[in-house]
Amino acid sequence: MMTPAEALPTEPIRAEHRELLPHLEHLEMAAVDLPTWDEETAASRLPRYVKFLSGHLIPHAVAEDEHLYPIIDRIAGSTAATATMRADHDEIASRVDAFAASVEQSLASWDDGAHRWDLAHQLSGLSAIVGLHFAEEEDVLLPLLDEALTLEDIVAIHQHMGHGEHEH
Ligand SMILES: [Fe+2]
Ligand SMILES: [Fe+2]
Repeated sequence: MMTPAEALPTEPIRAEHRELLPHLEHLEMAAVDLPTWDEETAASRLPRYVKFLSGHLIPHAVAEDEHLYPIIDRIAGSTAATATMRADHDEIASRVDAFAASVEQSLASWDDGAHRWDLAHQLSGLSAIVGLHFAEEEDVLLPLLDEALTLEDIVAIHQHMGHGEHEH
């Protein structure tokens, strides 16, 4: 028997969020204990976080901006529903850039505790915003698509979103 989640047309997009979620949980956990990391731990983990954020999370948001939100705008007959979400994407992108720059600086002088607290603070803000954004997308935006479109429609949209980019 299919679960309700499997029955939803937007399941491919929800599945993508589920793939991203464990990475976000790592960021959340890191925000708690990062100030206690030694330099070696920081040097191995922080660049991976930057890679995930710039290489996976941001492309996911860009693909939504280009291929998903315009369809929601068409269905809703207005850009009101996606305007706040696009603003979230902009905020997330600037925070990712700031985090990447701070990672570089802090790895150059890890002994400076102020850097470590600053990184922890940035990660905690970023993961809270991204978590809320995902929840808004799944609970508010995707239901609009579930009502208006079929699974075949969504699969076609999802292909345009560059699904598969993550796999190389
Ligand atoms: Fe988004
Ligand atoms: Fe998303």
